Amino acid sequence: MADRLDKFISANSSLTRSEAKSALAAGRVTLNSSVCKKGETKVTDSDTVMLDGNTLKAAGMVYILLNKPAGVISATEDTRDRTVLDLVKEAPWIREKCPKNGLFPIGRLDKDTEGLLVITNDGVLSHNLLSPKKHVEKEYLAVCTGCLAKDAVQRFAEGIEVGCEYKALPAKLTVVSADDGNCTLKIVLTEGRFHQVKRMCHEVGAEVEYLKRIRFGKLELPEDMPVGEMRFVKAEDIV
Ligand code: URA
Repeated sequence: MADRLDKFISANSSLTRSEAKSALAAGRVTLNSSVCKKGETKVTDSDTVMLDGNTLKAAGMVYILLNKPAGVISATEDTRDRTVLDLVKEAPWIREKCPKNGLFPIGRLDKDTEGLLVITNDGVLSHNLLSPKKHVEKEYLAVCTGCLAKDAVQRFAEGIEVGCEYKALPAKLTVVSADDGNCTLKIVLTEGRFHQVKRMCHEVGAEVEYLKRIRFGKLELPEDMPVGEMRFVKAEDIV
């Protein structure tokens, strides 16, 4: 894929975009062994770019599994709240192995939801995973209060009417435990609408007090993974 030289330099070195432009102007950059001062020059995978005599390698695609903490939002930036991208920037060993630009979370978890979130720079994979046509499974663990309807499992399997807005696709509900006024549920969805788990549970009498995503496609959240921790994974671990 062709990229502008100044963008390539800032994405694959410690320089910001404006520092990359200064380095270009100062003749510190060579493209295929010749000094190149033009930031707009297109570079492809077959080109060799050197900065101060060191070859810059394209960082390629990265996939970061984050055990998202509550209180952090699933966005690239925000003026008020900490974002999942702030967590990446605050983890030097992760940041060093990533391109600086172009990372984003695949889909969203609510601010108060914990658990599995993948952060990547792979727009194609993200598009495929989020496409409603692909029916990628997402599994959640929900701790709820309220009195779960007796026919909740069947209603989830048939597709629940959520308010008067839409009928959810058939989903799998497993009751892990239930006693007076409390239940722990596992829910597998193949779509990802706004507050979907919370709203579907509400329809069957359960109010979600704690929600955690434990699987996305094939990728499971390791049980021993501390909240807030990140690990690199491969695309084939997810799909
Ligand atoms: N469903 C919800 O209600 N919240 C989430 O964060 C994810 C799924």
